[in-house]
Amino acid sequence: MDIYSNPQLYDSIHQNYKWDLELIKTFAKQNRGSVLELASGTGRLAYPILELGLDYTGLELSRDFLEMANKKLKNSGKFIFGNMIKFKLKTTFDFIFIGFNSFLHNLTYKDAKSCLRCVLNHLSPKGKFLLSIFVPDPEFLYRDENKLYPVTDFFQFENSQCRILETNDYDPESQINKVTWYIEKNGKMSFKKYNYSMRMFYPHEMDILFQEQGFIIEDKFGDYDLSPFGQESDMQIYLCRKQ
Ligand SMILES: C[S@@+](CC[C@H](N)C(=O)[O-])C[C@H]1O[C@@H](n2cnc3c(N)ncnc32)[C@H](O)[C@@H]1O
Repeated sequence: MDIYSNPQLYDSIHQNYKWDLELIKTFAKQNRGSVLELASGTGRLAYPILELGLDYTGLELSRDFLEMANKKLKNSGKFIFGNMIKFKLKTTFDFIFIGFNSFLHNLTYKDAKSCLRCVLNHLSPKGKFLLSIFVPDPEFLYRDENKLYPVTDFFQFENSQCRILETNDYDPESQINKVTWYIEKNGKMSFKKYNYSMRMFYPHEMDILFQEQGFIIEDKFGDYDLSPFGQESDMQIYLCRKQ
């Protein structure tokens, strides 16, 4: 089962994920104007933008997630169906962002290029683009394939105390990591499996991608607290503009 087909489960898992909200809010505030979020999910990152009273559009591929976002926020934000790899909207935006590792759902270098090209086409002349992904970690990628690793804290879902455990299978050739999630409910493993895949993008690849597609990297941060990017950083967070 696709992990992005169950918005209730997604929201239950991520209800306390708040560490990136301030970062998104800071840059949306600096740029003012209209905002486009790619892979907007169930609207988690739309809240801080809407709190600022900005004009927000979210683009999302999962119809189930779109429906949930619309249910929660339809009177304030605009949520539209679309694919970040290829989209054409009739307007440009002053701030475009893709948070929470969603860029890694571009499973090939070609798709990533196409996604960035679409972003560039939708950025107003002085607009800014923010992209936030983790730095690939060999300890996480090269794990025992037969072992289950806990990935979340405990959370409430369907009247049970739950947590997620996962296995993964990384192919260094394609740089794609296939992840399978299992839910433990009240201490018992459920048989349902949820899958998703992410392509790992290393910092040097991102530098090239941005340059190739016509962006200038204005700032590169290593964490949500806006500390500078360095060798030990877990995150790669880019603030870009058009060349
Ligand atoms: C990790 S979630 C992030 C959702 C939301 N931005 C958040 O921070 O909670 C990744 C999202 O990317 C969406 N997604 C995956 N591939 C996509 C694509 N090609 N175009 C648009 N959205 C996509 C998924 O459906 C999912 O909602």
